[in-house]
Amino acid sequence: MKALRERFVCGLDVGTTKVCAVVGKQEPSGEISIVGLGLVPSDGMQRGVVVDPKAATESIRACLRKAEQASGITIARVWLGLTGGHISSVNVRGRAYVSGPQVTQADLDHAIDAARGAVAVTSDRRIIQHTVRDFVLDGERGIRRPLGMVGKQLDVNLHVVTGKASVVDNLLSCVQAAGVQVAEQALEPPATARAVLTEAELTLGCVLVDIGGGTTDIAVFSNGSICYTSALPLGGNQVTMDIAKLLRVSPEDAEQIKRRFGHALAQDVPEEQDIDITLVGTEQHERASAKLLAEIIQARMEEIFEGVAEHLTSEGLWSLVPAGAVVSGGGAELPGTAVLASTVLGGLPARIGYPRPLKGCFALVNQPMYATGVGLAIMAAEAGDWCTRRVTVSRGGPAAGANYLRALWRRCLDAWHRWQASRAR
Ligand SMILES: Nc1ncnc2c1ncn2[C@@H]1O[C@H](COP(=O)(O)OP(=O)(O)OP(=O)(O)O)[C@@H](O)[C@H]1O
Ligand SMILES: [Mg+2]
Repeated sequence: MKALRERFVCGLDVGTTKVCAVVGKQEPSGEISIVGLGLVPSDGMQRGVVVDPKAATESIRACLRKAEQASGITIARVWLGLTGGHISSVNVRGRAYVSGPQVTQADLDHAIDAARGAVAVTSDRRIIQHTVRDFVLDGERGIRRPLGMVGKQLDVNLHVVTGKASVVDNLLSCVQAAGVQVAEQALEPPATARAVLTEAELTLGCVLVDIGGGTTDIAVFSNGSICYTSALPLGGNQVTMDIAKLLRVSPEDAEQIKRRFGHALAQDVPEEQDIDITLVGTEQHERASAKLLAEIIQARMEEIFEGVAEHLTSEGLWSLVPAGAVVSGGGAELPGTAVLASTVLGGLPARIGYPRPLKGCFALVNQPMYATGVGLAIMAAEAGDWCTRRVTVSRGGPAAGANYLRALWRRCLDAWHRWQASRAR
């Protein structure tokens, strides 16, 4: 018998429409591989905010149970995603004077504290996360790791995200009540970015648009780091409700119709194609035009991308996104989404953000709606925040034991002969 240590991480995405938990395991190479997924419909959440704690706790608990069954491990700690309309961000600068000849960790901390101190937070808001964009040492910009460098004046450019304290605490309470510890609360856009963006996109600059059920997260990345975060109060649920109202079907039917026949580009749907619908509250069947369905969808999807364009314009961010737009989240599953995004965003290149390939059961999570959960698991792994489990494995039966002893004996003999030979020389 041999005792091994297996190491795991879990990313938990509590969304408006689904709760998903992605479990990753550390490979001998140090990489993360996917070993399980928990997925349940979300309850008690609206636009990233808890509106019914009991229901939200129950769906989180059910999701974790599924993830445990799928992966065969007990989940004790999670990396939790945070998003919603209450989130806002600001870029600030902080300064510290280097205490010795070289920059130390204490100098970095002083500069970061000064930058965080420059953020105006009211009593009901708190800083959720900060990301270092770059350091400036004695006027030299773009420095990534100033530790140990020689200089006198250290500035840091920080991207600081704030959120409503009560909203964050309510979600935390639900996750803890579901029986797990929250190792880290991570803002969702940077997590999603870890899963879907390439190094080139991060460096050149791009906008990440995550179309969820209740909200659409917008995040701009440039020079390898995040520089803008915001959220639109619109998502796939509005698309579903538009279909329900205009085709006069139930919201459940509208969701099914959208997933089976929906298209974000009406021009790609033939005039003659139609679909079978059941009018709400009746058994009455009717035929509806698939093109009309696409027109309904396209109108709302255009509104979402116009909202993204407005943010890029009002914040003067167009020049920072030459690598284009990457669209993730369940809303990106509609065919035609990337073309529509590109059209509305004035011809900017656009693609759908699938999670980057990982080892293990990657097929389970290879959809844009899992990008955030996968990204949270990757972030936890990159931070080295693994949970360890001891497992004992048998080396085989008695024959294997005998072979092992024989090999050991042979090694000892070889070592003895080598030693004898070296003495003779
Ligand atoms: N195959 C599909 N075709 C079209 N839309 C889809 C498809 N799959 C999921 N969606 C839509 O994606 C949305 C849910 O996306 P996602 O799972 O990313 O949201 P969420 O994380 O639960 O919500 P939020 O991020 O807003 O809190 C829903 O509106 C759903 O209708
Ligand atoms: Mg989401």
